Amino acid sequence: MTSYVNIGQWWKSEPGRRYYVANLAALNRGATVRRVFITRKQLKDEIKQEVLAQTNDGIDVRVAFEEDLASDRQLNFSVLHDTKQPVVTWSSLTPSGGASEGHLSFNEADIQRHLEIFESLWHHKAVEPTRVWNDLRISEGKLEVDSSKAPILPPALGTEVRNILYSKPELYDVFHAARFVPLSNMIHEVFRRYCSKMPTSLLDVGCGTCAYLSVLEKDIHDSWGIDAQKSMIDYATLKHPTLRLKVGDMRTMDLGRTFDCVLCVGWVLNYATRNSDIDVTLRSIVRHCHKDSLLILELINAASLLPGGKRNTTETVGVNHATLAGEATTIFEFDRENQLLRRTRKWKLHDGSNPTDYCSFRMLFPSEIEHFLEEHGFRVLQSFDNHELKPGDLIGESLFIAARYCATTLQPLH
Ligand SMILES: C[S@@+](CC[C@H](N)C(=O)[O-])C[C@H]1O[C@@H](n2cnc3c(N)ncnc32)[C@H](O)[C@@H]1O
Repeated sequence: MTSYVNIGQWWKSEPGRRYYVANLAALNRGATVRRVFITRKQLKDEIKQEVLAQTNDGIDVRVAFEEDLASDRQLNFSVLHDTKQPVVTWSSLTPSGGASEGHLSFNEADIQRHLEIFESLWHHKAVEPTRVWNDLRISEGKLEVDSSKAPILPPALGTEVRNILYSKPELYDVFHAARFVPLSNMIHEVFRRYCSKMPTSLLDVGCGTCAYLSVLEKDIHDSWGIDAQKSMIDYATLKHPTLRLKVGDMRTMDLGRTFDCVLCVGWVLNYATRNSDIDVTLRSIVRHCHKDSLLILELINAASLLPGGKRNTTETVGVNHATLAGEATTIFEFDRENQLLRRTRKWKLHDGSNPTDYCSFRMLFPSEIEHFLEEHGFRVLQSFDNHELKPGDLIGESLFIAARYCATTLQPLH
């Protein structure tokens, strides 16, 4: 549903409060309530308070700006599925922003029309409140006012991740060299199988050193990469000067354009350890998709780690490179409550030092990630665990997913 907040104090009025109580009752029944507040960029405090209160109550709220919408789109409607029969209600608005005539319809075409408008707003024009106000923050799943204007999102990197390969990107390339060619071939195979023509633009989210992006760039000149680690981007920029690379967080990135294909491989999405991080990251990916954009994901295959699966609890590997020589013992532990795989990597380096890397990865099961993707407007085309895209029982170390973004065919609301 949308809430065109120029209707002023409506939420505080008697009908507004009654309507809100009905929303809370629906949440209690297990329904999901999604609402887009439509407001002017000059936000009023009363609107902030309402958005904050509704978010805290469990309503999934986003904000769209009137200035970004066509002037003839006066949107104030609700589509209800949590009723015996789906129904849409909408009201016309007076030029001063007040609500006038109310309408109610069970007609399928009316419902579909409003649903399409809603999805188009939700995915293209509306953003979550934390992107609008940096004096709000999420704490333990709740939005709170942060008087010190702390960073919008809690950090995922830096404090929680230590990886000496990120500070020595040339070593990352050595360590992972065996992956790059099979992965680029696999991506080409996905294109062959699922695209009627070769994509002409590509965004690699969490691109790291861009080893395979630089291979794909030979066919797709409009290739972009984004990564949270400046060291990785600096190294990749020097090595592959024709790529368009940026330092940025996948949860907040906004390149202001869309791409035919978005890649997020090398277990990058597993760095989104909480459900809210996964949601925020997928929303951010959606901002860079248009209808039929292809998304290719590579995740840690949590299903392969179930009892009888392959992951050892301890692994030791040697490394012998001019700038790093020694041995690394990696210990994997499960945090079952938070569905995390925790990795501690203890180095014994020939220079006598013993640094330790650590990192937590979110474990996602195939149906779980499929659900997240569908919630964000994607349709999964195939899940597979091998570079040849062969069907199987998903026992491989990585879970690959090819999905298509199924945005509505509505034109953007300019
Ligand atoms: C294992 S590396 C994968 C790099 C590359 N995709 C590959 O397959 O070789 C994970 C990368 O994800 C990046 N990363 C982790 N969290 C991120 C975030 N929130 N936003 C952007 N990049 C992130 C890290 O900086 C790192 O370069």
